[in-house]
Amino acid sequence: MKISWESPSNIALIKYWGKRDIQIPLNPSISFTLSKCKTTTEVHFTKGTGIDISLDGKDKPEFIPKIENYLQRIKERHPWLVSYRLQIKTSNSFPHSSGIASSASGMSALSLCIVEFANKIGFKLGALDFYQEASILSRLGSGSASRSIYGGIAVWGESSYLKNSRNEYAIKYPEIIHPIFKNYCDVILIVDTKEKQVSSTLGHSLMDSHPFNEQRFSQAHKHVKDIKRILQTGNVDDFIQLTELEALTLHGLMMSSSPNFILIKPNTLKIIEKIREFRNNSKLPISFTLDAGANVHLLFPNSAKNKTMEFVKNTLIQFCRGENFISDHVGLGPKRLTNFEE
Ligand code: PMV
Repeated sequence: MKISWESPSNIALIKYWGKRDIQIPLNPSISFTLSKCKTTTEVHFTKGTGIDISLDGKDKPEFIPKIENYLQRIKERHPWLVSYRLQIKTSNSFPHSSGIASSASGMSALSLCIVEFANKIGFKLGALDFYQEASILSRLGSGSASRSIYGGIAVWGESSYLKNSRNEYAIKYPEIIHPIFKNYCDVILIVDTKEKQVSSTLGHSLMDSHPFNEQRFSQAHKHVKDIKRILQTGNVDDFIQLTELEALTLHGLMMSSSPNFILIKPNTLKIIEKIREFRNNSKLPISFTLDAGANVHLLFPNSAKNKTMEFVKNTLIQFCRGENFISDHVGLGPKRLTNFEE
């Protein structure tokens, strides 16, 4: 049986940085689910053992250990997997060379295929619903992937400010969202396309002994409280302050870890300077955020799109590698592509 899903990437507004046990976050995180940056995955399940994996039609044996490790982790929940062979065909909407991590979209797309197949063979998921189970499996593949399961805004990690939030799986943001945030834009300015020198896994682990870890975790909880008010009222000035503080805090934590490391590049800072200068002059409510890399995510309401895109094309593009950027926006979440006739 072949099952296919497409699933998007996401960009965190409140960052997950630090984990314990098997991918349990040390603080809650909140993200926009994207639309155009996505992975499409088809899995052909047959009786047997082993894995085949291809990306854009090319065999990728080098991906097998990562997938095996993931399957090992999820087998406790899905013991039926031991008697199946998985032929995985996957492709990303964004080029491999864009420096955009495909783990959130890739792991969520694969997890959705696995949960759907489990359903089809009559495997009982217990008390959780389809998406909660898919979010747990995604989390076990890559923490931030747990949030890609839901469209709009997603939350992962327990917060006393958000009802039903959990460490084991992400949920759809459960509170009121002002219309301005429903179609917010995210232009990803590609600064660096090389593989990161320091993996997220190592970065997370350095939080265990980080001198500012407790302060950071309580700050993240407070930021959840703040963003709840911002998302409800549509206060874009406060949104700008908060998202930029979160981005710079994340990179500040990297720079103050032992060992310390720097993932931003000179052009990351140039873009940030230009964004702040343009915001001051134009009074448009644009802001930036960063993930664990050098690329800059430029965030703005849809109403500011025309002028902001002009600014991107006239000013920011010169700092992008190969003049590359991706114009994306908040999306609807994963989509099932299989049409069952049986
Ligand atoms: O999911 P991971 O382990 O690659 O960690 C992602 C961490 C950040 O992108 C920096 C923040 C986040 O919450 O997505």
